[in-house]
Parts: sequence; C-alpha cells; structure tokens
Amino acid sequence: MPKFWPIIVAAAVALFLMNAALNAGGEDFERWQLASRWTARAGFPFFLIAFIASSLVVLRPGQISRSLMRNRKWWGLAFAAAHTVHLYALLKFINASPEEMNLLGLLPGAAIYVVIYAMAATSWPWAYKALGKNWKRLHKTGMYLIWAVFTLAYIGKSMDPELRQAGGILLMLSIGGLALRIMAWRKQRATGQAAKAASTDA
Ligand code: HEM
Repeated sequence: MPKFWPIIVAAAVALFLMNAALNAGGEDFERWQLASRWTARAGFPFFLIAFIASSLVVLRPGQISRSLMRNRKWWGLAFAAAHTVHLYALLKFINASPEEMNLLGLLPGAAIYVVIYAMAATSWPWAYKALGKNWKRLHKTGMYLIWAVFTLAYIGKSMDPELRQAGGILLMLSIGGLALRIMAWRKQRATGQAAKAASTDA
C-alpha cells in the first residue's frame, strides 16, 4: 500500500459526502451549505490523527502509535486534501447564497487556508532544513489554529438544537485531542524532571 493512501481515502470520502449532500435535495445554496458541513467533517478525523500522533507515542508507545507518528505527514496532507474539497464546496455556497456575504468576515477563514497550504507545502525534508526552527513554529501554531477553528465551530453546533448531537460528539473528540496533548506534555515534563533529579543526585 503506498504511504500516501490517507490522501486518497480523505479525498474520496470528502468527494463522496459532497456528492451525497448535493443529492439531498433543497435549494442550491442549502445543498452547498450541507456539502460544506459534510466535507468539513470528512477532514476532521484526519486532522485529529495528525494532531494526537506524537501524544499517543508518549502515552502509549507501540506499533500503532509509532506508525501513526511516522506517517503523520500523510495524515496532515490527507486533511489538506479533504479541506480542499471543503474550500470548493464553500466557494459554491458563497456563490449560491441568496444573501450578500461580508467579505471581511471571510478573512479569518481565508487566513487559516493560507496556513493549511503553507503547512502542506512545507511537509517535505527540504523544508525542515530550509526553515530550521521556524518549521516547528509554523506547524505547531498551525495545528493549534486549525484545532481552535474546529472546536469553535463544534461549540456553535452543539448549541444548535438541530445539530446538537453531532456537534456534541465532534466537540468531545476535539477536546479529547487537546486533553491527550496536555497529558503527554505533563508526562514528558515529569520524566524530564525525574531524569534531572537523578543526574543531580548522582
Ligand atoms: C473563508 C473560509 C471558510 C468558509 C467561508 C467556510 C464555510 C463553511 C460553511 C458554509 C459551512 C457549513 C455551515 C453549516 O453547517 O451551516 C462550514 C462548516 C464548517 N467549516 Fe468551514 N469555511 C471556511 C473555512 C474553514 C476552515 C479553515 C476550517 C477548519 C480548519 C473550517 C471548518 C469547518 C467546520 C468544523 C464546519 C462545521 C462542520 C460540521 O457541522 O460538522 N472551515 N464552513
């Protein structure tokens, strides 16, 4: 199986869901709105795996967690592929929307897209070397920004009576991802402190 299989799966799932939404009926803009919603959901599991892979290695070292970590780049690129389908759907939604869109309101989302594609373009060995410490800055900040957008969106959905159930589940997954990162960070800090104490005792 080629290493980039998550990209193919993510793109296929996002396209399938977009097609399903477009066949769901309703006005044009409603169908593209549903397509936007479902394509965002298609990318979320791929993002979440890339987000928690390093924490899983710290908390539960083993074959599966190490494999996820080794292939984290492909899970991140898979998310970028699914979110490209989201981009297509949301542009169609904006185009079909009967209400005039506030372009300024779209700027934060557009900026996150710039970050997503900057991360995708720098997911290769030449970029680690070329960017040095800035590589980690870009990818760490980018991951937390994307996490924040998902979490804020799911807080909104979990308060919407019609979408409460799905929104609540997705919100719990999002918060669970952050909780894993905090647990891994605490474990690493504790083992680092223990090692330091042992070396000063010796
Ligand atoms: C200018 C940029 C963007 C626009 C115009 C946009 C537009 C939309 C639209 C129309 C929906 C459907 C809303 C509904 O359910 O009624 C949606 C859902 C969503 N979008 Fe975007 N989006 C943008 C960027 C992003 C980015 C960058 C992310 C994440 C990194 C994101 C994540 C989401 C999420 C999590 C949902 C909710 C999906 C759900 O209900 O499960 N969007 N977006």
